[in-house]
Amino acid sequence: MSDNKVILNYDGKSFEYPIVDSTIGDRGIDISKLRDQTGLITLDLGYKNTGATISEITYLDGDKGELFYRGYPIEQIAEKSNFTEVMYLLLHGELPSTEQFSSFENNIKKYNFVADELKKLIDVFPRSAHPMGVLSSLTSALTAFNPKAVDVKSKEELDLAAELMIAKFSHLCAWTYRKTQGLPINHGDNSLNYVENFYKMAFRLPNEEFQMDPVVVAALDKLLILHADHEQNCSTSTVRMVGSAHTGLFASISAGVSALWGPLHGGANQAVIEMLELIEKDGGDVNKWVAKAKDKNDSFRLMGFGHRVYKNFDPRAKIIKKAADDILGKLGIQDKALDIAMQLEKVALEDEYFIERKLYPNVDFYSGIIYRALGIPTEMFTVMFALGRLPGWISQWKEMRLKGDPIGRPRQIYQGSPMRDYVDISKR
Ligand code: SDX
Repeated sequence: MSDNKVILNYDGKSFEYPIVDSTIGDRGIDISKLRDQTGLITLDLGYKNTGATISEITYLDGDKGELFYRGYPIEQIAEKSNFTEVMYLLLHGELPSTEQFSSFENNIKKYNFVADELKKLIDVFPRSAHPMGVLSSLTSALTAFNPKAVDVKSKEELDLAAELMIAKFSHLCAWTYRKTQGLPINHGDNSLNYVENFYKMAFRLPNEEFQMDPVVVAALDKLLILHADHEQNCSTSTVRMVGSAHTGLFASISAGVSALWGPLHGGANQAVIEMLELIEKDGGDVNKWVAKAKDKNDSFRLMGFGHRVYKNFDPRAKIIKKAADDILGKLGIQDKALDIAMQLEKVALEDEYFIERKLYPNVDFYSGIIYRALGIPTEMFTVMFALGRLPGWISQWKEMRLKGDPIGRPRQIYQGSPMRDYVDISKR
């Protein structure tokens, strides 16, 4: 039986701190009294060893390469579930009954539109604007059109805000894409399910009858499932931090969109394809680029490789790699980028530098290849990641609000100037 406390010896005194237990995975030291008792704080850049909260939503084991949504392994969820059901599972903690599923889906369909004024907002952006910048702005603007979803207190108000957000966000993602393509904005179609509705809003051409391709819908559904939640990653932690000030849901999600945009986080899927295209244009010598990734004097990094938590294969990468193969085969597409990606993976996984640092392909390494096969432009890849991550962000925000987590306010170690008096400019 493991200890249930730790002893800290400091300044000739001993201090006891309780261990917080987990269902599975990391146990933690509760240091909530540390500063009062010892005058010390902890320092943990990037929070690599720090738990920010207690959560019941998603569990991942980086060493084993395991990922569970509400206890269900991602492999089973990806194979047997669908994105709408996963959204319900993450938000409510259980797989829905038939009635619960229909009620959830119908509630989302009730809000399957966006205020016309918001369309004027999207018109003012240049077509060259990065879709993630447009999406973050539109998401925050939603607050103005849905005041009820701002300061939610009860579980019912929260669930309403969640269903509003889920319905409206897919429009914003589709519209963001159409903006980059110079296409007119489409409205939702309630005869379709959530993923079909997004696909048609995004891809319907004004002069053609829309053909719903089940292969594309199935691929999109699987990708959205695989991106749905991932415990306390950078963008989710941002959503929680902003929400901890009791900022409304839409503005909190808008902050999450901005965090996800970063190339070290969700922006990596775009950076991976740009990297593969660069390697292809450079003649396809993967050994040269792996060497560059290892060179400390070279800023080049193997995008889509490495992870803060996974020190084994990202289970999502395994599923997406297989799906990439399947979809390209079904769509009859030969993509040189996929060949280069597979060569890169093989070379890197046999190289001491990557083995020693436990650097494996992550969720972003293969996802861009599928998005590209589905006709989604590179700059839209992270918008697709955001659409997938939305239920995770909302679920984590809901858990934080319902559990009453305090406002986030970390401390610091100050190493700046000691106190000094002001010097008039004439004397400097
Ligand atoms: C996502 O947190 C989540 O859950 C995120 C995510 C989610 O679903 O929300 O999974 C989605 O963001 C996936 C990650 C996408 N980002 C990338 O693919 C960008 C490339 N990866 C790296 O930038 C990096 O691996 C990070 C940012 C993902 C993780 O960085 P860490 O944990 O801070 O690790 P580190 O930078 O301290 O690296 C440790 C060592 C260093 O070498 P040494 O100083 O020990 O010699 O590994 C090296 C790094 O230089 N390293 C790499 C590398 N990643 C780490 N070297 C070459 N290529 C890489 N990609």
